Amino acid sequence: MKCEEKFFEIYRKSPEDVAFCPYRICPIGAHVDHQLGRITGLAIDRGIHFAYSPKQNGVIELMSLQFDKRAQFHIREVADVRQNDWADYLRGVTIALQQRYTLSVGLCGVIEGTLPIGGLSSSASVCLVFLKALCKVNRINLSPLEMILISMASENNYVGVSSGKLDQSCEMYSKKDHLLYLDTQDDKYELIPSSPSMKPYEIAIFFSGIERTLAGSKFNMRVDECRSAAYALLAYAGMDYGKFNETYFRQVPRQIFDEYGDRLPDNWRKRAMHWYTEQERVIAGADAWRRGDIEEYGRLSFESGLSSIQNWETGSPELKTLYEIMTGTDGIYGGRFSGAGFKGCCMALIDPAYRESIIEKVSREYLKAFPNMEGKYMTAICHSADGLGSC
Ligand code: GLA
Repeated sequence: MKCEEKFFEIYRKSPEDVAFCPYRICPIGAHVDHQLGRITGLAIDRGIHFAYSPKQNGVIELMSLQFDKRAQFHIREVADVRQNDWADYLRGVTIALQQRYTLSVGLCGVIEGTLPIGGLSSSASVCLVFLKALCKVNRINLSPLEMILISMASENNYVGVSSGKLDQSCEMYSKKDHLLYLDTQDDKYELIPSSPSMKPYEIAIFFSGIERTLAGSKFNMRVDECRSAAYALLAYAGMDYGKFNETYFRQVPRQIFDEYGDRLPDNWRKRAMHWYTEQERVIAGADAWRRGDIEEYGRLSFESGLSSIQNWETGSPELKTLYEIMTGTDGIYGGRFSGAGFKGCCMALIDPAYRESIIEKVSREYLKAFPNMEGKYMTAICHSADGLGSC
């Protein structure tokens, strides 16, 4: 592993441990976790490796093979506002853990991400793997849910992204060859096995070539739009409502939307439409997986992707083009933008028998549309994997 080699090069000794946390995909259940919705997802066999050793003096010293600047801070003196670099996620984790437990030991380590950044939730993955290491050196045992909540607190409170718990939950709870079906309102979940009658599948990742955008503020705006729409619907219906910041679509029954939805501004109505239809797709998708019907599950994932384009109004021209090419390619059961949809990649569930022809066609047509992405665009074939909780 490159992170182990780099660790040795810097510290002239081997790391005490090399931890791993997988990335995730979410074929159905996009943009609903921050509204306390149900989601489906899987962890994949690519992720973040972290080679580290404890530091008894409480210092945290980190480098990433993907980013230039090294980060150094003391566990009890973490800057209380974000520093606008990659290590913010880990400063946020340290603060969130410190608020709940007493820390005395720091660590030094090297982080290695596999695959380009964007869409597979490397941010949740790096938070979780770092958190696991920090707990280990401080002899703290966290439940999977505490791990999820602390990592999420870092993104919400320190980095400032109003994301839900989809990413962390998929990366913690998933099990190889199972679909995670999770209710983010009460954290109940089911791991639905792939039945023996299910057609084989692999996970194809198509990277658009765009790794970074200034999308954080747009993501938060979508969450605010959902809250505003839910608040307005509750008010139109004469229902009780509480604090604005604690309002979610989950509190608004579908019939309220059917009755009052046309009073909402267009944008808010579309966000609501995504919420209600995506919840239906998640439930139908979990059923399809249970029956072993990957074709139906895939079809619903394509529908989810379309709703992200039309109702959620996300997706760069590059991601939309990839999505369109995927819908017209034989051997793809289904797929969509992976993640928030402003940058990064599309994921597809594919029939392995068509693997080569799919990669050839998608790549050829995409690079014809975006020749400037030659050298940046890339593909990867992945498989479902265990989450950190069962690694
Ligand atoms: C990002 C967020 C998640 C979720 C997805 C979209 O990955 O971090 O919480 O909202 O986008 O489904």
